[in-house]
Amino acid sequence: MEIMDIHGGKKLSGSVTIGGAKNSTVALIPASILSQTKVVFDSVPRIKDVDNLRSILEDMNVSSSMDESVLSIDPTQIKEIPLTSGKIQSLRASYYFMGALLSRFGEAIVSFPGGDDIGPRPIDQHVHGFEALGAEVHFKDDSIHIKAPKTGLVGTTIEFDFISVGATINMILASVLAHGQTTIENAAREPEIIDLATFLNNMGAKIRGAGTSQIKIEGVRSLSSTNSHTIIPDRIEAGTYIIIAAAVGNGVLVKNVIPEHLDLFLGKLEEMGVNMVIGEDSIYVYPTERLTNVEVKTSPFPGFATDLQQPISALMFLGEGEGIIQDTIYPKRIRHIPELNKMGANIWNEDGIIHIQKSGALIGANVTADEIRAGASLMITGLVAPGETKIFDAGNILRGYDRVVEKLTGLGADVKIIKGEK
Ligand code: EPU
Repeated sequence: MEIMDIHGGKKLSGSVTIGGAKNSTVALIPASILSQTKVVFDSVPRIKDVDNLRSILEDMNVSSSMDESVLSIDPTQIKEIPLTSGKIQSLRASYYFMGALLSRFGEAIVSFPGGDDIGPRPIDQHVHGFEALGAEVHFKDDSIHIKAPKTGLVGTTIEFDFISVGATINMILASVLAHGQTTIENAAREPEIIDLATFLNNMGAKIRGAGTSQIKIEGVRSLSSTNSHTIIPDRIEAGTYIIIAAAVGNGVLVKNVIPEHLDLFLGKLEEMGVNMVIGEDSIYVYPTERLTNVEVKTSPFPGFATDLQQPISALMFLGEGEGIIQDTIYPKRIRHIPELNKMGANIWNEDGIIHIQKSGALIGANVTADEIRAGASLMITGLVAPGETKIFDAGNILRGYDRVVEKLTGLGADVKIIKGEK
C-alpha cells in the first residue's frame, strides 16, 4: 500500500503548475476509440486513472504511449471485447466505454463501474439515454449489455431528470455517430464537457451548445483526429493548491489556471479573507492573516464543485466562527470526517450538513484516505498540522493528483510516498 508521509507545519512558497483536468482526461481517453486515426493528447496528468485506462485500452488492442505529458493512442487496430475485467472497477470513468463502444461497434458489454466510495452513484440516467437512442439495455451478472438496432442508433431528444456529468458525456459519445440529431435537455455544463466536445468537433463531429444546458448533436459518419488536443487545466487540482497556499503559504503562485472555472470557489475564499491576485491564467495567493468561516453549498457547474467541499473544509479549521457545508450532489461524501478528527479537527455531520469549528490544536496522525478528495483534505490538514501525518491508502490521492509529491516538494513541503502496511 502507498502511504503519504508528511511532516507538517512548514511554510510553503514558490510556484506550482496545474496539470490537465482529470475529469476531462478520463472522458477523452475512452472517446479516442471513436477516431479512425491516431490520437494525441497534450497536458495529460500523470495519475493512476490514466494508467488504468491505458491498460483497459491495451486489452482492446489499442496501443498507447506516454512521453512526459503527451499521450499518443492508436485505436486503428481496435478489437471489440467485453470489458468485464477487474480493471473496470478500478475507476468510475470506465463507464464512458459504454457510450464509446456503443458508438463504435453498436454494442457494449461493460462491468458496473467502480470508483470512489462517496455514496450511491446510480446510472439510471445513462440507461434512460441509451434506450432513448434506440438501444436495448440488459443487466446480466455484474455487467450492463447495451445493443444498438441493426440499422444503428437514431438521434432523439433526451431529457435528464437531473443534471449528470457522466450521463451527459455518455450521451455525447453514444450519439456523435448516430443517425440524425440528438438534443440533450438539462445537460451538465461542466468545462470538461466543453473540452470533450471541442476534441470531438475537431475530429469532424457536429456538437453545438456544450457548456449550456441544451446540447445538440448532429450525427456524422466517421471521426478522424488530425492534430493534438491540449487538455484544459484541472480546476479541482488548482482549487486544492489555492487552499494549500491559503492555509500554509508564504506567497504561492498557482499557474495554468482558468479562473472563470473557479468563480464561485474564488468568491468563497475571498469571503473567508484570502488575498489573491487573479491573473489571466494564474492566481497568486498572499500569506493569509485572518480567516473567517463561511457557508458552502455544492451544486452542478457553475456552482461550488462537490469535489472541493472536502478540501475547503481543511481551510475552515483555521477560520473564526462556524463553517457550514452542504453537499447537495453527494450528501454521503463524509468519510473524511472521522479521519480529520483524529488530527484534532473539529468537524461533524448533522442531518446532512457538515459543521466545522476552528481547531487550535491540529496535530499529525495516522489516517486513511478512503477516496480522492477525502485524501486531499487529509493532505492539506497534514501540511498544516505540526508533527508527522501518515495517510494510508494514499493511492486514492495518486489516482487523481498529478505528480503531487513533486509539486508539494517544489513548494518546500516535506512529503514523500512510502510503501507499507496498515
Ligand atoms: N446520478 C444518478 N443517476 C445517474 C447519474 C447520476 O442518480 O444516472 C446522481 C449521482 O448519484 C449524483 C448526481 O446525480 O448524486 C450527480 O452525479 P454525476 O453523474 O454528475 O457525477 P459523475 O459523472 O458520476 C463526475 C465526476 C465526479 C464529480 C461529479 C460531480 C468524473 C469521472 N467524475 O461524476 O468527480 O464529483 O461528476 O461533479 O468526471 C472526483 O473527481 O473526485 C469525482 C468524484
